[in-house]
Amino acid sequence: MTIGGSEPVIRIDHDGPLEGTVRVPGAKNSVLKLMAATVLADGEFTINNVPGIADVDIMSHILREIGSTVERAGDGSLLIRHDGDLSTEVPTGLAGRLRASVNLLGPLVTRFGSIHIALPGGDDFGLRPIDMHISGLEAMGASCHFDDGVLTVHAPRLSGANIRFSFPSVGATENLVTAAVLADGVTTIDGAAREPEVADLCHFLVSMGAQIEGIGESTLRITGVPRGSLHSATHRVVPDRIQAATYIASVAVAGGEVDMVDARRADMRMFLHRCTEMGLVFTDLDDVGLRVASSQRLSAVDVQTLPYPGVATDYKPLVIAMLSVANGSAVVTENLYPGRFRYINELQALGAKITMHEHHAEITGVERLSGTEVTAHDIRAGAALVVAGLAADGETTISGVGHIDRGYDDLVGRLREIGVGISRD
Ligand code: EPU
Repeated sequence: MTIGGSEPVIRIDHDGPLEGTVRVPGAKNSVLKLMAATVLADGEFTINNVPGIADVDIMSHILREIGSTVERAGDGSLLIRHDGDLSTEVPTGLAGRLRASVNLLGPLVTRFGSIHIALPGGDDFGLRPIDMHISGLEAMGASCHFDDGVLTVHAPRLSGANIRFSFPSVGATENLVTAAVLADGVTTIDGAAREPEVADLCHFLVSMGAQIEGIGESTLRITGVPRGSLHSATHRVVPDRIQAATYIASVAVAGGEVDMVDARRADMRMFLHRCTEMGLVFTDLDDVGLRVASSQRLSAVDVQTLPYPGVATDYKPLVIAMLSVANGSAVVTENLYPGRFRYINELQALGAKITMHEHHAEITGVERLSGTEVTAHDIRAGAALVVAGLAADGETTISGVGHIDRGYDDLVGRLREIGVGISRD
């Protein structure tokens, strides 16, 4: 993987159905939060099923800079050790490279009483405010102020509070749960995010000694435990439903049948429902994963993004790539990030027929796209361009591969294993 330096390109020149088996790695949007949560306690943590992605490297770097020891073992696990005080000054350059750096807010403030951190980076979909994180911490007794893009929070001691979200923010739910586990008294969060990665974090916190009720539901009740009573733990990261969806989308446009080890139907029900309406067939592989099969051209189906259990915004670029070669027209509506359409121009360059109306994309499927040079501007957009490349005649060349590396564990290698004509140089 490349962080900085000269960037590689991905080339796709593919024809024919896919077959074989692919293992779905652990979820980026869980592991980064688990890593941040470890700062709640001293001791040695083992996180298993950690994906080999650049964002894990950046979060490891941040943890080392504040005083943790982080080591990667050959078996895909990460060993993290904390021993006593950590710095609450998060290095500005690193925090700005990662959205999940904001997940240090809850754990550092609740354990050490303060944090000094630059506003988080991550994919550019337009405004990504953190007002819900801040108002929740303030309700728990913290004082927060911004100065020149840097947030400072002080809270010698947090107290439990009743928090009601008007929208189920993933990051704000995670930050306030991690803050509440060491606060005085009980915190309730109404309207909490229910994503499988949020539940994974809660299960991890419980294995550290935290008291959380309502995991996976929209009301969470957290009873604070004394500082020092949380302990280290071992945890296996939940499989990445968006990486699984990327293999599903690949089979959808190329045809064939692929077994996805570790893919979880329960975590992706609405997405699978839409895919089934488009013509894909899914079979449970007992205790192993899920099989996806495609034997006909996809049918166009309208899709709108919603918080979990709805169809996640992260699936949307993949869905639009699929619809680009489906039979008929469909409308895809984005309800979370109105600006998250930066890959549409690239898909159009590949021959997709897409018209935009505010936060709706209308896609009229064509038989085949045609390969050209395109650029990935964020992680999921990059994956969508790879999928589109599979549906294109001739060679598709994708630059901006560093974005894909932030969230995909050896996407090229895994696709080659199931028969895709793809290389990286
Ligand atoms: N929002 C606010 N105020 C806040 C927080 C959020 O207005 O304080 C709004 C956002 O602007 C957005 C919506 O609420 O319109 C959803 O934001 P949320 O907080 O749920 O998202 P996030 O925690 O910043 C995570 C994932 C994203 C994923 C979203 C939605 C991580 C690191 N990122 O972001 O994943 O799209 O949830 O599911 O977990 C990706 O992996 O490619 C990715 C972008």
